[in-house]
Amino acid sequence: MIKKKVIIFGASGQIGRNIIRKITLKNYKVTAVTRNAHKSIFLKTQAPLGYLDIVEENIFDQKILEKLIEPHDVCINLIGILYEKKNNSFKNIHVNFPAMISKICKNYNIDQFIHLSALGVENAKNDSKYAQSKFEGENIVFQNFENSTVLKPSIVYSQDDNFTTRFLSLLSLFPVFPLFENPKFSPIHCKDLSEIIVGLIEKNIRSETIECIGPQTLYFKEILKILSKSINKKHFFISVPIPIAKIFAKTSEILPTPLITLDQLRLLKYNNIATGNFKTQNDYGFKADLKFENEVKKYSYMWTERGEYSRN
Ligand SMILES: NC(=O)c1ccc[n+]([C@@H]2O[C@H](COP(=O)([O-])OP(=O)(O)OC[C@H]3O[C@@H](n4cnc5c(N)ncnc54)[C@H](OP(=O)(O)O)[C@@H]3O)[C@@H](O)[C@H]2O)c1
Repeated sequence: MIKKKVIIFGASGQIGRNIIRKITLKNYKVTAVTRNAHKSIFLKTQAPLGYLDIVEENIFDQKILEKLIEPHDVCINLIGILYEKKNNSFKNIHVNFPAMISKICKNYNIDQFIHLSALGVENAKNDSKYAQSKFEGENIVFQNFENSTVLKPSIVYSQDDNFTTRFLSLLSLFPVFPLFENPKFSPIHCKDLSEIIVGLIEKNIRSETIECIGPQTLYFKEILKILSKSINKKHFFISVPIPIAKIFAKTSEILPTPLITLDQLRLLKYNNIATGNFKTQNDYGFKADLKFENEVKKYSYMWTERGEYSRN
């Protein structure tokens, strides 16, 4: 029997796919909203038959959103971007969109609205447009709907991410690697984060702000070294002075998928670990204990010699 109906915006991403796999096995029915159902066709394989509907929609149409959200018990917003493009601003994606759906959740008496923000954005908001927009998004969802829950993860990794997989590709190509800043992170595995989200729904936990962190605190350089070791390579990491890093970032912004933007460079000045400003998942009895080194080993072999993504 179906327990509850859950609608997920941004379902085709790393976290969305993982939640779908977990929650449908617990008898929740999911509606996955995507901009392009054709590109997201792989979602069909993530759930048992009858537990997943894939809907292709324009996410900025109020009437469409109302019709979509109304029949559901829980709404999850995973839509997020790392850099701005034409017609795709931080303000639109991280503030205006969550403002619209949180209001609709309120108007239609949805049980829970779970919104993904990011760790430490309140500290970086004066330096980074990304952080400022995520911070504004957090505030607006609570203003609109008291049953919102905001999750603030550190970096989220898995074999489906854009973080470790990107660095594994770059590290497999270049023996010398630039290091612009060296902040600390508490990487959380996507499986652990998805279990927290499913747990929040199962226990009906609402109206909270929760930082989601992994079991380790690692400097960025340590993360790169772990990735480098996991593909059996040796790298030289060179600290790049900030003025040169800025030129690199500015140049990289013209690429279709920038390696780094100026806004991201400013964000890297800040540690990405528990701030002490909010509770963490541990305070709610959820564990996130998967260790970075162990988990990365499970998929990094694809970048080693004769692996699927190897250059040799
Ligand atoms: N991954 C991390 O390390 C991390 C850390 C902190 C916070 N977060 C937050 O967690 C959330 C989910 O992260 P994720 O890693 O799963 O992200 P992801 O893999 O990049 O997926 C994000 C999803 O957002 C949708 N999307 C992107 N731009 C859109 C646009 N202009 N209009 C409509 N939909 C758009 C895409 O769905 P379609 O293409 O199917 O429409 C995509 O599947 C985001 O809010 C992110 O900021 C992530």
